[in-house]
Amino acid sequence: MAFKTDQAERLERHGQSHLLRWWNELDDARRARLDAEIAAVDLDQLDRLIAEHVHGESTAAVPTDRVEPVEVVRLPETDGERVARRRAKEVGEQALANGEVGVVLVAGGSGTRLGFDGPKGTFPIGPVSSASLFQIHAEKIVALGRRHGKQPPLYVMTSPDNHDATVWFFDQHGRFGLDRPRFFQQGQMPAVELGTGKILLAAPDHLALSPDGHGGTLLALAAPGADGGPSCLDDMRDRGVRTLFYFQVDNPMVEIADPAYLGLHRQADAEMSFKIVERRMPDEKVGVVVTVDGRPQVIEYSDLSPELAGKRRSDGQLEIWAGSIAIHVLERSFIERLVGKHRLPFHRAVKKVAHLDDAGRTIKPAEPNAVKFEQFIFDALPEAERWSIVETDRLREFEPLKNATGPDSPATVHQRMSDVFGDWLEQAGAVVPRRPDGSVPFGIEISPLYALDANELKAKLAPGLVVEKPIYLH
Ligand code: UD1
Repeated sequence: MAFKTDQAERLERHGQSHLLRWWNELDDARRARLDAEIAAVDLDQLDRLIAEHVHGESTAAVPTDRVEPVEVVRLPETDGERVARRRAKEVGEQALANGEVGVVLVAGGSGTRLGFDGPKGTFPIGPVSSASLFQIHAEKIVALGRRHGKQPPLYVMTSPDNHDATVWFFDQHGRFGLDRPRFFQQGQMPAVELGTGKILLAAPDHLALSPDGHGGTLLALAAPGADGGPSCLDDMRDRGVRTLFYFQVDNPMVEIADPAYLGLHRQADAEMSFKIVERRMPDEKVGVVVTVDGRPQVIEYSDLSPELAGKRRSDGQLEIWAGSIAIHVLERSFIERLVGKHRLPFHRAVKKVAHLDDAGRTIKPAEPNAVKFEQFIFDALPEAERWSIVETDRLREFEPLKNATGPDSPATVHQRMSDVFGDWLEQAGAVVPRRPDGSVPFGIEISPLYALDANELKAKLAPGLVVEKPIYLH
């Protein structure tokens, strides 16, 4: 197979001809693979990104004086607020019963910080059962289907690196009882060398590619399905799904398709909604929701100036307090509008990327050597005509699995899950032992199929249970 001349010329024009260095040594199959990977790269777009993020002054910092706190629907404190929240819940429950809600789970990330070999969703996280993140999420959706009479369809975003392993895992487990989960793949972007902007090769026939960020969800939802079939958006339209609940794979505490949140989103006639928690400290690794010149937007933690991150009000509270926990509601029509004309911006991440050197040896760098480009879903917020920002209780709903040890690790997730399930049991009249700091001393776990929330547990469990050792209700 000869390389198409126009492809070689194209690379030449963009200063990327080094990608063909080993062409003459490749067999036809490997040439075809490299050819397809190169053809898939939008080199004009990459030139712009390299000019901005590799050679240019890539500063994402927003001038501090234009940033203001965003308006938030706070957790209800008064009776009136509780009644309003209950009304919103009824609106969300109706949407679920009508089958108008779909669920999008983003699980395409590489999970490098966790150091786990395999899709992060397969990580065993149940404090007693060792159920995987995927199992816990899936069981919540099955339980929602039982409760509201219609199972919300689940759309799982994977990346080319973990797609097959993800689908295999769901198949091995009978798809956890889900009716018809659909798996769709996000796009990839090449990593380029820091300083030169040259695309890195991972092998003689393979570019160093990585997922294009969860902002890639939007285009991936609109892309044709396998074998050119209907896109996920087409599928949603066919099923009458209007509203999407979006969440990340790493947080087992997420209240999937929380009806009150869905209801608040609908009551605001919002196109996109954010769940937020109060930031605990200036350097907490969560994006912050703010307004800039009156429009809402998220500033990612890595782009937040220390001055803004630590700015305090006169009462000592952080001024910019709304931390995004990456739980969104999006209208399908909003996504359709965005993919039609708008492109989310790319952010740069400087990372260590293994690559071939000029002699064909694989180099595993000790220091960051490359720039990766990613889009973030939260950059859609400024495009929304209406939005809602809703506070939730961090202790109940946010304990993500990010690291192997320390904060946001299996140990903290186990503890938090057990503490919350301990609370549920107490509300149902059980006796639960506690350490002096209020935490429970061993694993406690309740499968979503047994009870989806504290009220359901209360209705199911006779009071008087004394919990003396690890317990898994399922
Ligand atoms: C993310 C958010 C941060 C938020 C925090 C809450 C970003 C850039 N930042 O931080 O604002 O406060 O979560 O936990 O997201 N993913 C894909 N494809 C990709 C990249 C990521 O599907 O190309 C998925 C991952 O599988 C994961 C999620 O997105 O489910 C988060 O990615 P991660 O890189 O872990 O984001 P954080 O830096 O933790």
